[in-house]
Amino acid sequence: MMRLSCAIILAWFSAVSLAAGPSKPVDSVYINLSDKASLQRGAALFVSYCVSCHSAGYMRYNRMGKDLDISDTVLKENFMFAADKPGSLMLSNMSPEDGKNWFGVAPPDLTLEARLRKPDWIYTYMRSFHVDDNTVSGWNNTLFENVAMPHVLYGLQGSQRLVGTDHDTGKPEFELVKQGSMTPQEYDEAMRDLTNFLVYLAEPARLSRQTVGVFVIAFLIVLFIFAYLLKKEYWRDVH
Ligand code: HEC
Repeated sequence: MMRLSCAIILAWFSAVSLAAGPSKPVDSVYINLSDKASLQRGAALFVSYCVSCHSAGYMRYNRMGKDLDISDTVLKENFMFAADKPGSLMLSNMSPEDGKNWFGVAPPDLTLEARLRKPDWIYTYMRSFHVDDNTVSGWNNTLFENVAMPHVLYGLQGSQRLVGTDHDTGKPEFELVKQGSMTPQEYDEAMRDLTNFLVYLAEPARLSRQTVGVFVIAFLIVLFIFAYLLKKEYWRDVH
């Protein structure tokens, strides 16, 4: 019986790992949640280019504004294209049914995406779209093959063609066939900002957790000094 259950568990694990397939190499991205300017730029990209299809249904505009130091006026004018109340959730106006009809797959909610896929994956994914005549959208993605999402940022990045794979790293090699409004360096920077923002989105409490942590340590140090003095005071009479 014991052996049978072990065999079943082992078979299940190998099936799961096979289904996941070998993981593809990704580029690493430097995440810095204390860089508010980067988070603001990432938020601007997100509301301009992503909320038309994807929701971030666990985040409210005014919470984001407060966390990222964006004033209410700027928030309303520059960030709220899909809603009119600052307290609204960041929901896409596209229904999941329409999404499914148009793309074959409903665009998933992206609030927790950075925890599901990890920052390096998102950063690499956003830089891995390439032209492909064999797909419906005309785009493909080396990290997410036959993805239903079109390359919505091609105006910024331009379009690139897949030319091969690097023998040493196993990473795809691209060639820019049409220049976008950004240089490749600027586009990489912009994708770092966007990934930074998605990391914040997945765990907004991380911003305050670090500050609270510093206060807690400072408090403990002060407490230690008093506790030590008190201990000395008590033991003076004992000795
Ligand atoms: C035109 C609609 C559309 C827009 C705009 C759009 N996406 Fe998507 N996205 C999709 C669809 C559809 C999928 C599902 C792809 C699939 O499963 O094949 C998707 C999937 C994704 C995924 C992978 C989700 C997973 O499976 O883990 C990420 C990450 C993502 N989108 C990020 C973004 C970001 C960031 C933006 C803004 C720059 C954006 N998308 C804009 C349609 C869109």
